[in-house]
Amino acid sequence: MSQLAFAEPAISAAVIELSGVEKRFGSLPVLNDISLKVYQGEIVALLGASGCGKSTLLNIISGLLPPENGVITLQGEPIERFRRWHKLGYLFQEDRLLPWRNVRQNVNFGLEAGNLGREERRQRVERVLKLVGLEGFGDAWPHQLSGGMRSRVALARSLVVEPEILLMDEPFSKLDPQIRSTMHDELLRIQQLTNMTVVMVTHDVEEAVVLADRVVILKPHPGRIHQISAVDLPRPRVPTGKTVTEQVRLLRLEV
Ligand SMILES: Nc1ncnc2c1ncn2[C@@H]1O[C@H](COP(=O)(O)OP(=O)(O)OP(=O)(O)O)[C@@H](O)[C@H]1O
Ligand SMILES: [Mg+2]
Repeated sequence: MSQLAFAEPAISAAVIELSGVEKRFGSLPVLNDISLKVYQGEIVALLGASGCGKSTLLNIISGLLPPENGVITLQGEPIERFRRWHKLGYLFQEDRLLPWRNVRQNVNFGLEAGNLGREERRQRVERVLKLVGLEGFGDAWPHQLSGGMRSRVALARSLVVEPEILLMDEPFSKLDPQIRSTMHDELLRIQQLTNMTVVMVTHDVEEAVVLADRVVILKPHPGRIHQISAVDLPRPRVPTGKTVTEQVRLLRLEV
């Protein structure tokens, strides 16, 4: 791993660019001077203590929350002019399933803003349910699902739009280790296939090292970037592999 602070890959244009982003809630400064470029096809993991502003940062990138200061561009457009929201997938920290919709309808929700035909939508929903291991659960209601199943529905909803930019807030934290590892493989497979750009929040340093091209460590009060480390390891990365364990150890010292 390169320990160079602010190491950046020498590839293509930034898909997400934040410059001098600041956010306050009332008098509480939450994010201070966040500048970050995320490049096409990268997986960037955000790590940091609870309350350091990770979810707030994703909310800002997703356009849901305006910052007090700073400039944000998405795919080269200032966020105010960005038009490809239908190609942005956002998996929230809470699953945000609609209780009055079954699983299939919840996943379909992600497509309702687009202009796909009914049959294309149906096929996509079925495909993505299979992908997350929920084939056959399309008619189930959210209250009938386990926590892990609910978070897979949320994952399916964020993937069904075939995102160019995918924001994920602790997407795998409620999954048992075996399903989590399957989901990691799926995420990497989809990412390779589509070259989508991913920003994900995790508390799990090992998960960050296994998945990410770069790991951004935030420190709290106010949330700010402490370190950015490139994970220069060949894939697939095995969690128990010696090099992965070593990198996990190094990052733990910083988090
Ligand atoms: N809507 C809000 N109104 C007021 N304060 C907020 C709001 N949302 C977040 N905060 C505050 O902003 C800070 C950062 O919150 P945020 O949810 O971004 O943290 P986080 O890094 O995602 O934490 P966690 O790891 O626990 O999810 C916290 O102090 C939180 O109390
Ligand atoms: Mg959070």
